[in-house]
Amino acid sequence: MAESKAPVITVDGPGGSGKGTVTQMLARKLGWHLLDSGALYRLTALAAERKGVSLDDEPALVELAANLDVSFEPTPPGEPAKVLLGGVDVTADIRTETCGDNASKVAVMQPVRDALLQRQRDFRKPPGLVADGRDMGTVVFPDAPVKIFLTASAEERAQRRYSQLKDAGVDVNIDALLEEIRVRDERDMNRAAAPLKPADDAQVIDSTGLSIEEVLVRVMAAAGQA
Ligand code: DC
Repeated sequence: MAESKAPVITVDGPGGSGKGTVTQMLARKLGWHLLDSGALYRLTALAAERKGVSLDDEPALVELAANLDVSFEPTPPGEPAKVLLGGVDVTADIRTETCGDNASKVAVMQPVRDALLQRQRDFRKPPGLVADGRDMGTVVFPDAPVKIFLTASAEERAQRRYSQLKDAGVDVNIDALLEEIRVRDERDMNRAAAPLKPADDAQVIDSTGLSIEEVLVRVMAAAGQA
């Protein structure tokens, strides 16, 4: 079947840059589909943990990634999409720091990335797609007409994550969070397979010091949707 050429807006960047919230708001505003590609890497890591598969066992991880039984269900505005793995609600389980860190480890493996590639491209359907990730503009949708790279300082991203976790009643140390963010950035940016970097034709937006509404205004303007 010929690949659908529905429009795509790619939004790449490190964790905590505001991508998740902004892509959700943008997709809702436009009435377009949303791809949270990080969730697929998180689900692969979670499936490995639940099945006792080691994070070093590349062939078994590829098998898990290729056969993920996942569905995303819409939720009220402001809430993250409900994520089901094998029919079980894992929305909260995939959002832990450990799952994010394990996702970053499995994401280093090119064969795991290959196993998830077509599944990501299948989200491209009319009327359009907003794609959130690390390599949406560089690898998954290189022909996307609009590419955005959203960033923010590591300190600000640690502060945002700290506030989020605090609101959720989780007790964390901000210095430890900042260190985790630095380690994860380093791994995501320096891996050989689809490293985190802006596409040559991406518009870079720095969200440091901006509210989520201000970021959305800039992203909409960059996307020609202001
Ligand atoms: O965006 P996130 O925090 O949910 O992503 C979790 C990890 O998954 C991230 O540290 C790297 C990996 N990832 C990736 O390699 N490529 C993507 N397109 C999305 C996420």
